[in-house]
This record gives sequence, structure tokens and C-alpha cells, in this order.
Amino acid sequence: MTLIINTMNKFPLLFLLLVITTIAQSQTIRPGAIWPDNNSNHIQAHGGAIIQYHHQYYWYGETYDADTVHKSVNCYNSKDLIHWTYKGKVLTMSMPDTVLTQFKLERPKVFYNVRTRKFVLYMHLDGVAHGSDRDYSFASVGVALSNKPAGPFKFIRAFRPLGDESRDIGQFIDDDGTAYLIFEDRPSGGFHIARLSADYLDVQKEAAFIKQPMEGGAIVHYHGLYYVIGSHLTGWSPNPNQYATARSISGPWSIFKDIAPPQTNTYNSQSSFLLKIAGSKSTTVIFMADQWKPDSLWDSRYLWMPLRIGDGQLALPAPKPWAINLKTGVWK
Ligand code: GAL
Repeated sequence: MTLIINTMNKFPLLFLLLVITTIAQSQTIRPGAIWPDNNSNHIQAHGGAIIQYHHQYYWYGETYDADTVHKSVNCYNSKDLIHWTYKGKVLTMSMPDTVLTQFKLERPKVFYNVRTRKFVLYMHLDGVAHGSDRDYSFASVGVALSNKPAGPFKFIRAFRPLGDESRDIGQFIDDDGTAYLIFEDRPSGGFHIARLSADYLDVQKEAAFIKQPMEGGAIVHYHGLYYVIGSHLTGWSPNPNQYATARSISGPWSIFKDIAPPQTNTYNSQSSFLLKIAGSKSTTVIFMADQWKPDSLWDSRYLWMPLRIGDGQLALPAPKPWAINLKTGVWK
């Protein structure tokens, strides 16, 4: 306080600069930084995704505590994508009796169904399954349901989509409202893009199977072209994430190319979701990724950056603080 008053009296210009910098920082998204919520706690919504509902954004993701237990889903909401209000743990799972040990819930994704007016939460459920001695052998998805965006969600069931093993999941809602689940299938050596049933409670039909072992899958439909992105299978360690394109969701899909200089390992991050902001002047696609810290998962950071995208090309610029005008869609 004394320092502030001294600075204010002796160096009014310096003080002004300090105030301007502080205001500017609070109006930007800062990739890789601690991201405080309305309670000043670092946001716990890892492996997450965002939906828009009633002029608010809702961000769902994995919750970690000091024991790196991840069995819960957190929800935050915001009007500007920068300041997030904690809405609480919207689902906490107990271990299904089909799992022996090491139970975990990862990469929650919420879909809003306009017909049923329900919020449908998909999650990756895993651990050591009965009859196996391997972690991640349960390889299933779980589904939960709520009437409100901030829950509480009621767990419905766990299953293997289309009968296949499913680990990392991603979500995609097309411009016509069709909802898809993306899921990685290790035995088949690739990932599926599968349409959800009309009520979203089931994974109904395969739209595409891409024979490329990738996880952290996400899709955006941008100017008539579909772009899929994902990471290689290196666990918590970052790797060069890649993208491919197609005119139709069912393909054919192009070959995969790096989204950033490969030596940066996607600026030390792993893909999670692509958020499209269609403004009056421009459409911006935001790459949402996790910078995992496996020994202190609660301290993992978020790398969000607008992509350079168009004409079949997609590139992740070097991360730096940025801001977007949500009305015009223009970022700087
Ligand atoms: C990553 C995956 C994460 C988590 C991790 C565990 O490949 O994307 O969600 O499952 O492996 O090692």
C-alpha cells in the first residue's frame, strides 16, 4: 500500500502505467498463466469444452485436488470468456462395480439438446476393469443428464460406444445442430466421429472412422470445410498436434499436418476443443488446449489461442496475451 501511495505521489506517470497494465491484463486471455476464477482460485476445468446457452458461455472440465483424484466435473460460466464464475462440481462419480481400481473420469463434454431441453454430459470413464490388470482397460463413456446447465447432473449409464473401446473423447456440434462424439479406439488404431441419437443419450451411427491413432480430438466447421485436430498418443507429455480437412464429415479426410512448429510440441500443450465465435465482421476459431503438469495436475495450465485458419490451412500462432470482441468476432 505504502509503495502504491509513494509511486502515486512521486511518479504519477509510472502509477498511470501500472494501472493501465493491470486493467489491460485483466481484459486479456493469457495462455499458460494461472487463471483465477471469481473466488481467486485457479480454474479447475481441465480437458474441457465450452457451450453457449442464454448469452453465457459454460465451461466444463476435470476437477483435480491435491491427490490428483479426478472423479468430478466442474462448471464455470462467463459472458466474456475471460472472467469465469465458479458454478460448482456438477457431477461427482463413484467407482462403477465393473472397475477394480484407479477409477477416473476424464474429458467431460456437455451437449444441450434443444428438443428435450436437457443437458447431456459425456465423459471418459476408466480404470482397471475386472478381468484385467491394466489401467485404462475399462475404456468406456459415461452419460449423465441435467435440466440446467450448472447441474446437478444425474449419472445414467456407462457403455462402449458402437461396442468399441473408447478413451479420449471430443465433442462437435455442426451448424445444423447435429451432435457428434469423437472417440479414440486403440484396438482399431484410429478414432471415430459418431452421431448421437436424437435425444443425445446414445451414440447412434458412425459418420467416419479415421485410421490415425490420435486423441484429444476436436472438430470445427469453418467456411464450408471440416477441420479435425488431435494429438499423438504420448500420455501427459505434449507432442506435435496435427489437423486434417474434409468437405463432408464422413470424409474423405486429407493427410494430417502439424498445427505448429513440431519442435515446440504444440507450445507444450494438448488439444481439447475448438470454439467458434461467429461475429458480425469475422469468425474466429479458438484452440483450447491443456498444458498438463502430471505431478501436480491441479496446477495444469490452459493454452487458448485463436487459430489462423482458412482455405484448408490451419496454424496455431505462438501464444501471447490476446483479447476478442465477441460482437465483431475480431481478436488482437
Ligand atoms: C492423455 C490423455 C489424457 C489422459 C492422459 C493420461 O493422452 O489425453 O486425457 O488420459 O493421457 O496419461
